[in-house]
Amino acid sequence: AIQRTFSIIKPDATKRNLTGAIAAKFEEAGLRIVASKRIQLSLAQAQTFYGVHSERPFFGELCEFMISEPIVVQVLEGEDAIAKNREVMGATNPADAADGTIRKEFALSIGENSVHGSDAPETAAEEIAFFFSGLELVG
Ligand code: CMP
Repeated sequence: AIQRTFSIIKPDATKRNLTGAIAAKFEEAGLRIVASKRIQLSLAQAQTFYGVHSERPFFGELCEFMISEPIVVQVLEGEDAIAKNREVMGATNPADAADGTIRKEFALSIGENSVHGSDAPETAAEEIAFFFSGLELVG
């Protein structure tokens, strides 16, 4: 089915001018970028977005990293977009990511791993709503 998923191009990638290269990977995989904006998160926004990880030992480091530089938030649309995006991103840890994936090519470490993508339809809907209004989604 046609789905939408939420994506973040993270600070390590925007800082190294990889926004276009990463967007090209999405488009080459058949994902349409139906919304896109470059923003800089506040600490409170990062903590809210990653609230599910608040008890993890890396939570503080993760939030500090996510506010360290601008990010690009996007909505990607296409056939099985959630799974397709996860395939294009590759494993969370770049050491485990398959050849040709975004994280294999660009990520620096498990924390500085260049992209975030929703893991399920419910989280995709929540994450899209956190960053975008309906008016900003142009399919
Ligand atoms: P993301 O998909 O954005 O969701 C949670 C993030 O936590 C994950 O990507 C990783 O970048 C980050 N993360 C996971 N494990 C670690 C870790 N051990 N140290 C630092 N960051 C981590």
